[in-house]
Amino acid sequence: MKNIPLKIFIMVLISGIVGVSGMIMLKINIGNLSDGYREITSEYSENKRYTLEIRALLYRHQALVANHTAADSEEKYSEYETAAKKTENSLCDMFDELGGRMKSGDRSEKVYHKAYSSFISYLQNAEIAFGFSREGSKATADYYIVNVMDDYVKKVNANLDALDGYTEEEIVAAQNVMDGHIRFSTVSAIVCISAIAASVTVCLAFCVRITSNLEKYKDALEKDVERKAEALREHSEKMLRIQNNTIIGMANLIESRDGDTGEHVKRTSRYVNMLAFAAKESGYCADILTDGYIELLSKAAPMHDIGKISVPDSILQKPGKLTGDEFESIKSHAAEGGRIIRDVMSGIEEKDYIDIAADVASCHHEKWDGTGYPLGLSGEDIPLCARIMAIADVFDALISKRCYKSPMPLDDAFGIIEESAGTHFDPTLARLFLGLRKDIENYLKNTAADDSALY
Ligand SMILES: [Fe+2]
Repeated sequence: MKNIPLKIFIMVLISGIVGVSGMIMLKINIGNLSDGYREITSEYSENKRYTLEIRALLYRHQALVANHTAADSEEKYSEYETAAKKTENSLCDMFDELGGRMKSGDRSEKVYHKAYSSFISYLQNAEIAFGFSREGSKATADYYIVNVMDDYVKKVNANLDALDGYTEEEIVAAQNVMDGHIRFSTVSAIVCISAIAASVTVCLAFCVRITSNLEKYKDALEKDVERKAEALREHSEKMLRIQNNTIIGMANLIESRDGDTGEHVKRTSRYVNMLAFAAKESGYCADILTDGYIELLSKAAPMHDIGKISVPDSILQKPGKLTGDEFESIKSHAAEGGRIIRDVMSGIEEKDYIDIAADVASCHHEKWDGTGYPLGLSGEDIPLCARIMAIADVFDALISKRCYKSPMPLDDAFGIIEESAGTHFDPTLARLFLGLRKDIENYLKNTAADDSALY
């Protein structure tokens, strides 16, 4: 299958070379035949011209002899004899040239010699006739002209007729040979063209068949790929749903140890999503805040306090004031959360998600002015995702009921966010969050009926 196009190419190439070579050879052959035919017809046409010329000169000479018998003065005798001599010389030249064109041993040469012999005899009798005419024996001279010389003229003409006949036969024979070669060449050309046409037809049929097979194979392959892609997509979506539910479940479990119903996870994820899109629309950190980044951040937000799994219930659920050691234990959840995400999720989740989730967990208690924990990062050294998470986490903690406090009114909570801009929070993000107040209030009204811990 793979080599068929090459084979077809070679077949077409060979057919083309054979066909073109055959046509060139035929053209050369026809050219040679045509040249030969032209040469033969030219040669015999020239012979015919000489015989015609000889006939005409012979009749002229015969007329001059006849006129001589009718003359009656020396002046006339001399005039006719001179003209006759001149004509005789021309006739001799013509016979010489015609003789030079004869092929030795050919039948034409034989009749030529007979014609020439009769011509010589004619001339001899013409001299005799001139003699009788000069002596005044006009009747004898006329006898020679009518009965002797005319017989030789007839013999000359008969042999010239035979020579012309041979010439015409040669021309017809040459023409027949030429016609035969032309017919052969024509048949050969038809065979060559037919062979080329047959090869091209076969090649085209191969090409059509191959193309048809390739199309069928391509269609089958596309359908197979489409089927597998659909199955993979369904599987991926299923895995994603399981994964998200697992993450949410884990986060809820952790939050429930803290005395929360699990709505904190849902609300903080929503604030994070709203604030991230608001930042994106404002053009803030446009190189980071893509739709993909925001999707991963929203998915990672529920994991921000996963480090609390290592904090004892007695500390997490303590209603009174924490001791210094207890507070340090609480603070350790940030670094611990980053470590857990990297250790547990490495190889399961994609790297971008792990990086964002680990940054959110380990840095969501860092502060813009550098007074946060665990690393004391400040400003833009704090990952963007953690700066967004910090606002959402604190805001929801303020308006939520905890074992150690009552929920704070919204005005006070937004007031604290405003006051903390530039100290605790990224001032740009804090300003954007305040700009979302109406949307947040609407969201909280819609979810308040199901959340007894809110306010
Ligand atoms: Fe936390």
